[in-house]
Formats: sequence, C-alpha cells, structure tokens
Amino acid sequence: MTASSLYLDHASTSFPKDPRVIEEVRRVMEVGATPHRGAHRSAREMEGLVDTARERMARLLGVSDADRITFTLNATDALNAAIKGVVGAGDRVVTTQVEHNSVLRPLNGLVRRANAQVDVVAASAEGVVSFEALRQALEKSPARLLVISHASNVTGALQPVEEIGTWLRERNSPTRLLVDAAQTAGYRSLAEVTEVADFVAVAGHKGPGGPLGTGVLWTRADQELPPWREGGTGTDSETSLQPDPWPEHLEAGTPNLPGIAGLSEAASLRLEQGLEQVAERRTQIVSRFLDAVAGLKGVQVFGPKVPTEREPVFPIRVDGYQTSEAAVILETSFGIQQRSGLHCAPEVHRALGTAGEGTLRLSYGALSEESEVDRAVAALQALGS
Ligand SMILES: Cc1ncc(COP(=O)(O)O)c(C=O)c1O
Repeated sequence: MTASSLYLDHASTSFPKDPRVIEEVRRVMEVGATPHRGAHRSAREMEGLVDTARERMARLLGVSDADRITFTLNATDALNAAIKGVVGAGDRVVTTQVEHNSVLRPLNGLVRRANAQVDVVAASAEGVVSFEALRQALEKSPARLLVISHASNVTGALQPVEEIGTWLRERNSPTRLLVDAAQTAGYRSLAEVTEVADFVAVAGHKGPGGPLGTGVLWTRADQELPPWREGGTGTDSETSLQPDPWPEHLEAGTPNLPGIAGLSEAASLRLEQGLEQVAERRTQIVSRFLDAVAGLKGVQVFGPKVPTEREPVFPIRVDGYQTSEAAVILETSFGIQQRSGLHCAPEVHRALGTAGEGTLRLSYGALSEESEVDRAVAALQALGS
C-alpha cells in the first residue's frame, strides 16, 4: 500500500495489524517449541501462551469457559465444525438470506449429501431478517439448527440474534443456535449473544485484529461436537480415539502458534481499547458516512438507515458505472482500496436488488478516522457527478 492509499476493506480482513501483533508473531517465530509436545522450558512457555490466548478470546466474547474456545483456521473452519457436527442425515436447518457462503455452501453440501432440509428466511430490502419471520420458520416444524449472522458482511446490518436466541431459550427449544459473528466479534460486546447462543464462530483476522489464518469457535459447555479433526494432541497418547476433554477434543495437530500468539496480543489490545468504545466509534463512522452520502447525486447506499442498526460496512452503486469499473477508478484515481462484487454472499443481493454485478463495498475498521469517511465521500461525489 502506498503512503497515500486508504484501506477500506476491513470486512475482508482488518489492516494494518497493530505493531504489537506483528512483533508478537515475530517473537514466537523465534521460539523452538510446540505446545504440549515436550516438557522443556520453551514448550511450557508456549503452552502458557495458548492458555492465555484462550482466556483473552473468552473475555472478548464475554464467556468464562476458556476451554470451550477452539482455535480454528478462520471463521469458515469454525462454521464447518459446528454445522457438520450438529446436522445429521435428514435434519431440518433454518438459516437466512443474508448468510455468507461459509454458511450456505456447507448447508447446501449437506442437502446434497445427507438429505438435510434447509429453509432460508428472507431479508428485507435493507438486508435485515425480522424476528417474526425467524420465529415463524422455527415454529413451522422442528429444526435441529438455526444458523444466523450477527451482522451481514454486505450491508453491515445487525440481525435479531439476541431476540431469537432468547425466544429459543425461553421455550427450552431443542433447536441449537449457531451465530456467525465474523463481522462483529472484536468490534462490539458479544455478551448478549453468548448468553443465548450454543456456538459462535469468529474470524480472528477481522474484528479482533489478529493475523490471517486465525479463527475461533466457542461452544457452550452443555453442547457436544464430534471432533472436527482427529490426530495428535500431545496429551493422552495411549488413547486410540480423540480425547474427550476440551479444548483438545476439537484441536488436533500442531497449532498455528504464531497466529494464535498474534491473535492473543490483538485481543489484549482490543480489551485495553474497550469494546464499548470501539463500538461507539464505529457507530459514529456510520452516522458520518450516512449523513454525508445522503445528498450525493448518483450514489446509492444500501442497508439500514439508522446508524445503531449496522456496522460500518457500506454496499454502494454509482450511476453510470459497473461496480467493478467504479472499484478500479476508486483505487487508481483516489487510492481507495475496497472490494466490488457479491462478497461471497449472493443471496442477500437478491433482497437488496443488486444481484448480478453486486455492489462496491467500503468497510471500516476498529480505529477508522472520520477523515477516512470524508475522503471516501469526496471520491464518491466526484464519481457520481
Ligand atoms: C459474515 C461472514 N461469515 C464468514 C466469513 C468467513 O470468514 P473467514 O474468511 O475467516 O473464513 C466472512 C468473511 O468474509 C464473513 O464476513
């Protein structure tokens, strides 16, 4: 990235990573050890590091059971572990039109291979799924699993996860709740989500600010999952099956230690910054952006109009331009790095009326400045007029 370029693709992965995160990755790369594979000093130090990482991620998610934090490759890996662990042959699953392909593809695979039945609840033209529509889908016939995003990666729209989760708990429902928190974890408190969810999938490299190749699955203590990967854990080597105790139950093989170390440092930093403060700052970014684009000629921004109802992720169309064309101009003429297309969530574009070429997407980070909004808006104004 050149000095004058502006990165507005945080919904893909947050950037830049904090120097503390980079330094921690580098430090761990210089330690010769694998956690749980040796009793020497460095191996023990790295075991401690992974334990600390789990505790920090637990705090970031607002849970106390750190042993139920499983490190994964990314949010996709976490979603796959939960979906494929919960859904059996012929099971019914309820999901929504706003989901990412990391949810839709595993579910569609289960439809094909295991005769699962998947009901997709429609979203509004603003990309929001209503509590009522979810409730009706869940009441229609028994469902094994509800999979829902906390916020859409296309519109940033927050979905009624807490409400539907509370409704399921109040009824003692056998339907399990899996929340895709890829666009909210590390950006806002998830305490109300983890209070009602059974599984939460996290992209460590997005909101928390960790390195690429990191993710987390949190599993409620009363839930079981079959091991997603089976193999060496460095513990119970005599046992012929994957050990039952968590976290080893879901973690096999040498972990991504540099990634976990970086994620741990990132989580620590985010906790120091305060999730409330980060969330508030992001809402201010939404307000400023929506106010500024409201009067722009030829520029259409999709998603909720109320700032508190979304994350700062903006799908945009500019009159007279293909979205891919607008994206190239934004980068080459204005130095703004962003993303265009369907953003791996094809269904929500049908609700927005942007199917086909999709949208341009500008997305902001944890510490984005108001000047970054002003610069993007000036570029859109120049493009639209
Ligand atoms: C809502 C949502 N779910 C899942 C994913 C997949 O995340 P990852 O790239 O970490 O696998 C993304 C990434 O864009 C996302 O935005």
